[in-house]
Amino acid sequence: MKVLVVGSGGREHAICMSVAKSPRVDKIYCAPGNAGIGQIAECVSIGAMEFDKLVAFAKEKEIDFTIIGMDDPLVGGVVDAFEAEGLKVFGPRKNAAILEGSKAFSKDLMKKYNIPTAGYENFDDPQKALAYIETAKMPIVLKADGLALGKGVLICNTKEEAIEGVASIMQEKKFGDAGNTMVIEEFMTGREVSVLSFVDGKNIQIMSSAQDHKRAGDGDTGLNTGGMGTFSPSPFYTKEVDEFCKKYIYQATVDAMAAEGREFKGVIFFGLMLTEEGPKVLEYNARFGDPEAQVVLPRMKNDIIDVMEACVDGTLDQINLEFEDNAAVCVVLASEGYPVAYEKGFEITGFDQFDNKDYFCFHAGTALNEAGKIVTNGGRVLGITAKGSDLKDARAKAYNATNWIDFENKYMRHDIGKAIDEA
Ligand code: AMP
Ligand code: GLY
Repeated sequence: MKVLVVGSGGREHAICMSVAKSPRVDKIYCAPGNAGIGQIAECVSIGAMEFDKLVAFAKEKEIDFTIIGMDDPLVGGVVDAFEAEGLKVFGPRKNAAILEGSKAFSKDLMKKYNIPTAGYENFDDPQKALAYIETAKMPIVLKADGLALGKGVLICNTKEEAIEGVASIMQEKKFGDAGNTMVIEEFMTGREVSVLSFVDGKNIQIMSSAQDHKRAGDGDTGLNTGGMGTFSPSPFYTKEVDEFCKKYIYQATVDAMAAEGREFKGVIFFGLMLTEEGPKVLEYNARFGDPEAQVVLPRMKNDIIDVMEACVDGTLDQINLEFEDNAAVCVVLASEGYPVAYEKGFEITGFDQFDNKDYFCFHAGTALNEAGKIVTNGGRVLGITAKGSDLKDARAKAYNATNWIDFENKYMRHDIGKAIDEA
């Protein structure tokens, strides 16, 4: 069969790598892809938001199955556009992708269906938000309602910071229209865990857990990024946590969406905080995490096409989802200056030793230059992933492999997986 993957990051490279392992697949296209994806798929220069062109391409090439990796097209309704033409596509429709597309929606959903999450209020009037802050307990968390590249969350320690935060989100529109509405949320403490799941509208199956490192600098300092590294599984995702979440969070979310007439098919990413009162939902995403996908998918034993088709067909209960009994660590190699300002176009060398068995080099921001060389083309450049017998082994291997790669302004965190030592 012919498969089209939509997106251009490390997540889409990991998806393409899993798709390439399926004996059912003859040809993979990726729109728009990147230099690494181009080694296993044919990259097509169509942007992820160019729905008409994507659909026309899928029809022309007789694509059997399309996988949407990114949030923006999902929230914008790309799945609806494909389905309208009778094309088979993996991902939630627009009315379900709102689970990620609107934080105010997701908070109201959790409240209505008693799914554990932080206390909150939604605001569309900055004056009311400011009045609320006058009497609120600090620290407090401000969230732009819409998509903001994972950067629309401000944790404010003082009232002054919170007042500035309201101004920047709702008045100065730092995150554009994403800030027309804002959620003000209680600050929670605890460990964070990312849990990805496959969902077919009714049934949900949980993938192996992971943990991200969102801040740019060592010791969780600096600005929030899309994610600087991950490990899987999380040693803090214990059997008790799993049982609690199965009872109160996972199926409850799927059932809530169905009850609202927003049947969810695709991947639900549960961002969880393990608080003293038990696990609570920090956020939902309507797609694989990046770089979470880079440590979870290489450990999945199933044929990814079988699982994704079951999600579309509503037969996920017939799938036995299995993960290898090992661990993986991903260290992101970024361009110095990310997530603010950075240079592009530097040649990258050192790809030879990645065997795609124990060592993976997932491309995120890379491109081929005119001379046919692979060059840096984004903030997050590569995801260096290694599998190991356990987390410590995987971490040592991943960091060793970061030495193989060379490019100017190479930047990484040195403490990815430090939490493993505290487990
Ligand atoms: P989100 O995009 O909602 O996951 O938020 C980004 C990051 O902000 C999360 O990964 C947490 O580290 C932090 N965060 C979000 N909401 C809260 C909260 N209510 N309490 C404490 N930290 C939070
Ligand atoms: N790594 C976090 C995300 O994909 O949203």
